[in-house]
Order: sequence, then C-alpha cells, then structure tokens
Amino acid sequence: MALVPSKLTILQYPHSKLRIRARPIEETTDLVRQVAARMLKLMHEAPGVGLACPQVGLPWRMFVANPSQQPDDDWVFINPVLSNHSQQTGDRDEGCLSIPGVIAEIRRPLGVTVSALDLQGNPIEQVSDELSARIWQHECDHLDGTLIIDRMTKADRLANKRAIRDLEAAVR
Ligand code: NI
Repeated sequence: MALVPSKLTILQYPHSKLRIRARPIEETTDLVRQVAARMLKLMHEAPGVGLACPQVGLPWRMFVANPSQQPDDDWVFINPVLSNHSQQTGDRDEGCLSIPGVIAEIRRPLGVTVSALDLQGNPIEQVSDELSARIWQHECDHLDGTLIIDRMTKADRLANKRAIRDLEAAVR
C-alpha cells in the first residue's frame, strides 16, 4: 500500500509499531520531506515539542522537534546520532504524544550533541544542555522502540498505573 503522508496519525501505546527499531533513511526524497511536514503539523496540533517516525508507524530514523513551540523553531533530524553525553544528569517530567495521560520524571544526561542530516541531506550538528537535549534523547529513544514507561521510576510506575492500564484496555 502506498504511503500517503496526509493520512499519517499519531499512534498510541501499546501499538506494536512503537516498539520497532527504525532503520536509516537512505535518501532524502520528496516523500521524506512530505512526511516530515506532516509530522510537524501533527506535533503542533497535539501540541507537543517532538515526534518520531515510529509514532506515525514508520520504521524510519527521523524525528521532528520544536523546543520553543514558536513558528520559526521547527527542526527535522534525519538519521540522528547522539554523542558527548554529559556526566551530569537531571530529572525532569516528560510526557509523550503516544502515551496520553502519563507524565514521568526521567533521569537523563543534561547535555548532548546530535549529528544528523537535514531535509536537503546536508549534515547538521547541534549541542544543547537545555530542553533540546532532553527532546533529542526522548525522540532517539523512540527510534529504538524505547518509551518513557521503560525508563520511569518505581514511584512513577505506581502513580501512572491506572492511566497505563486504561491505554492497554482501550485496544482490547
Ligand atoms: Ni514520545
């Protein structure tokens, strides 16, 4: 079946496609650009600050982000690789557009570098020790099938038990 970018929607936990390990994008084609545009639209409508391809059911290593939620702050990262994780970590509440109703405090390195390709296929590299660093790590987790519910504390697992159970029950 042909991929129609305008038909893509955000999948919700426990959809099995959220657990796939995404594969590198070999060429930045018009289709890739159309999918990125659709994902930015879905992210803004939600609203959210990041969205990864597995969340729309595609096994592609790409995510979109907009840390400030301002119109001129849209970013697309193709085949992202993280490096230079800081020793220092921070705990911060995270949500996920695929897991509505669940908020969990996640510990991550505060600073990180992301290397990727942009929509023209040109290499880009950014460094952050602020919200962007957290978004990149959250979205790169998605590309490996990892969700915040895999990383949350025992206390948060308990606090979110009902919300998680309701999401699981919704698909039965
Ligand atoms: Ni997420």
